[in-house]
Amino acid sequence: MRMWGGRFSGETDPLVADATRSVDVDRALALDDIDGSIAHVHGLARAGLLTADEATRLVDGLRVLRGEVEAGTLVWDPALEDVHLNLEAALAARLGPLAGKLHTGRSRNDQVALDLRLWLRRTVRDLDGEVLALERALVERAARDGDAIMPGMTHVQPAQPVLLAHHLLAYVEMLERDRGRLADCAGRADRSPLGAGALAGAGFALDREATAADLGFSGVTANSLDAVSDRDFVVEFLAAAALAMVHLSRLAEELVWWSNPAFGWVTLADAHATGSSMMPNKKNPDPCELVRARAARVAGHLVTMLGVLKGLPLAYQRDLQEDKVPLFDGAAVLGSSLRVMAAVVGGLSFHPDRMREAALRGHVTATALADALVERGVPFRAAHHVAGRLVAEAERRGCRLDQLDDGAFREALASEEGTEPRRLAGEVGSGLTAELRQAATLEAAVARPRVVGGTAPERVREAIAAARERLGDTAT
Ligand code: ARG
Repeated sequence: MRMWGGRFSGETDPLVADATRSVDVDRALALDDIDGSIAHVHGLARAGLLTADEATRLVDGLRVLRGEVEAGTLVWDPALEDVHLNLEAALAARLGPLAGKLHTGRSRNDQVALDLRLWLRRTVRDLDGEVLALERALVERAARDGDAIMPGMTHVQPAQPVLLAHHLLAYVEMLERDRGRLADCAGRADRSPLGAGALAGAGFALDREATAADLGFSGVTANSLDAVSDRDFVVEFLAAAALAMVHLSRLAEELVWWSNPAFGWVTLADAHATGSSMMPNKKNPDPCELVRARAARVAGHLVTMLGVLKGLPLAYQRDLQEDKVPLFDGAAVLGSSLRVMAAVVGGLSFHPDRMREAALRGHVTATALADALVERGVPFRAAHHVAGRLVAEAERRGCRLDQLDDGAFREALASEEGTEPRRLAGEVGSGLTAELRQAATLEAAVARPRVVGGTAPERVREAIAAARERLGDTAT
């Protein structure tokens, strides 16, 4: 098949045709390509390059093609390399030589750059809705089950008690930033490259601003060489997508551990787990595991795109065609991962008793106990030592900090240097120990961090209310 006009005499080697073809992938751009072509036709008519009648026939023809693409009836010809040549040929089959005027003042180089930006805009819009849906699922679980106290961890060791709601809302914060990054990237891509031509700019007096406005862009690209070779927005999108996937992966990882019977903090709905072909006892958190792995896949797409771009001289190079698989797959993986995590989160059953048990076993109130000593005048470093001694004693006796007797408190205080601990050792039994035991309960300890952003219940309630308001959700 000969496609390239008078310059060529032979046919393309089928091996080369196979190696260069992209229509199987870039047909995802068909609707964007048609929208761009319709706007271009109007631009050509405005510039006097098409009569009103020609423009009408071209636009009507393109609309018919759009209907066929939407209905899935357009026949894609693999011999025609890419989506652009397929659509132009399909138009020519309907309109004859008039279709040959469509490509006036346009190259596939500015055309594909335009299509990608249009695709990005609608994809980011869709993904934004998916991120919001996951945020909603998390906020609703925080509101419904969030009073449970769990051992917050550092180094995967029990650290301080936090409310389950506080933990879930941490992911809402990450997802909000992900939304911001996606919007930033779409904002920078909000410039129409149409009119850049192959590389130097179109050779006709096209009103680029008017065409850009028709397509809903807020402006036009300023340099034609940059316009046809810029794929910054693909990199930015994949960076935002990879980071969002990292966040989903961290959540998935936690659910994998929390659903292990050794934790027993949560049970996944049967509909969101799978069994084993051999072990009848198994209930596996496969969707979470796959999200975790796919975070690596999207990170790989980001690295691929950086690699594709880094050695490219200006302007368009065919290497750029390789942007599509990473871009489309990255977006698809992020979308499906967001949907599956929203479903998983919505179907979780939490087990507050198991979380509480784990918190109590880990002596997670030791910091609150030290803080209570500070309030009685003990320097923090000394209070840290005293509380540490009490933890060691509780470990030895196999009890909780708030179950230690007066003798244990007296001894821990008396063995610390400095006047304040020693003075307090003399006060043991006078109400001081009741106060310290109270400070060492889970409820008191979780209520202590009242700072902005802390886990105290009233702060978390405010955070839930703020999140609901931001999400436009008034349910209580
Ligand atoms: N399929 C090509 C791509 O995605 C379209 C642009 C081709 N331009 C060219 N001069 N071969 O990059």
